[in-house]
Amino acid sequence: KSIAIIGVPMDLGQMRRGVDMGPSAIRYAGVVERLENLNLEIEDLGDIEIGSADRNANSENNLKNLKAVADANVLLASKVDGVFREGKFPLIFGGDHSIAIGSIAGVAKHFNNLGVIWYDAHGDLNTAETSPSGNIHGMSLAVSLGLGDQSLTSIGGYAPKIKPENIVIIGARSLDEGERKLIKEKGIKVYTMHEIDRLGMTAVMDEAIHYLKERTDGVHLSLDLDGLDPHDAPGVGTPVNGGISYRESHLAMEMLEESKLITSAEFVEVNPILDERNKTAEVAVALMGSLFGEKLL
Ligand code: ARG
Ligand code: MN
Ligand code: MN
Ligand code: MN
Repeated sequence: KSIAIIGVPMDLGQMRRGVDMGPSAIRYAGVVERLENLNLEIEDLGDIEIGSADRNANSENNLKNLKAVADANVLLASKVDGVFREGKFPLIFGGDHSIAIGSIAGVAKHFNNLGVIWYDAHGDLNTAETSPSGNIHGMSLAVSLGLGDQSLTSIGGYAPKIKPENIVIIGARSLDEGERKLIKEKGIKVYTMHEIDRLGMTAVMDEAIHYLKERTDGVHLSLDLDGLDPHDAPGVGTPVNGGISYRESHLAMEMLEESKLITSAEFVEVNPILDERNKTAEVAVALMGSLFGEKLL
């Protein structure tokens, strides 16, 4: 397998500074060496260019930094598309979760039925109408479903990118009113922390994998580090207590690796300024190790 890394130093999808340094932090934590040790061919394409935005400008439409976020995602979508065309596996480092808009736009056109695993404390299913914050990182999954501002949903030249029944959310514990409504309306499959506690991660992943295997022809893993408990991944902008543990997350990655289901992946929301000695980037790299087949024995 040949993997192409794309860094996306994006912080305009939310209001806390520092998450633009996520790609550097992940590289500093040794991701390339780690994956090369698994006999994978790794090509680091570097970071894509992110434009600037006047952060103090009021967004009249409840979509903060819309233009700059849209532009960056247009660029990301075409980069990811190019990687895929070369037959390589796109591995994307965030940056805030608004970059999933571009990642998914770049890969979804290569499948009839792309599945998405959204590993996250949040649903990121808001639109400008329902968002309490105006932050686009809380809207990226909705955009991929074709819901939201046209300048975002049209990226890549087609919409929607994915079908609601091809999504599995894992780790949810903070959902806004409009997101809950959308989940029910669209019948999106969600494993909240309740199900993870009750069934255990093994059963949750078994179910999720079978569910996606039946209806999809490829699966994008969108892993927001805030899906993990803040004790294990403190360097995130929107931490929520009571999250998925480090060990459960490794198990999940190992089961995904065994399933051979994943065709592209992104690790997002690593914020080194909020972190403890790069712990969260190290966790991200450790999880990538498991996702790509690292084993102790
Ligand atoms: N639901 C909240 C919002 O819309 C938080 C979203 C957090 N998203 C994330 N990718 N960390 O603002
Ligand atoms: Mn989140
Ligand atoms: Mn998220
Ligand atoms: Mn570690």
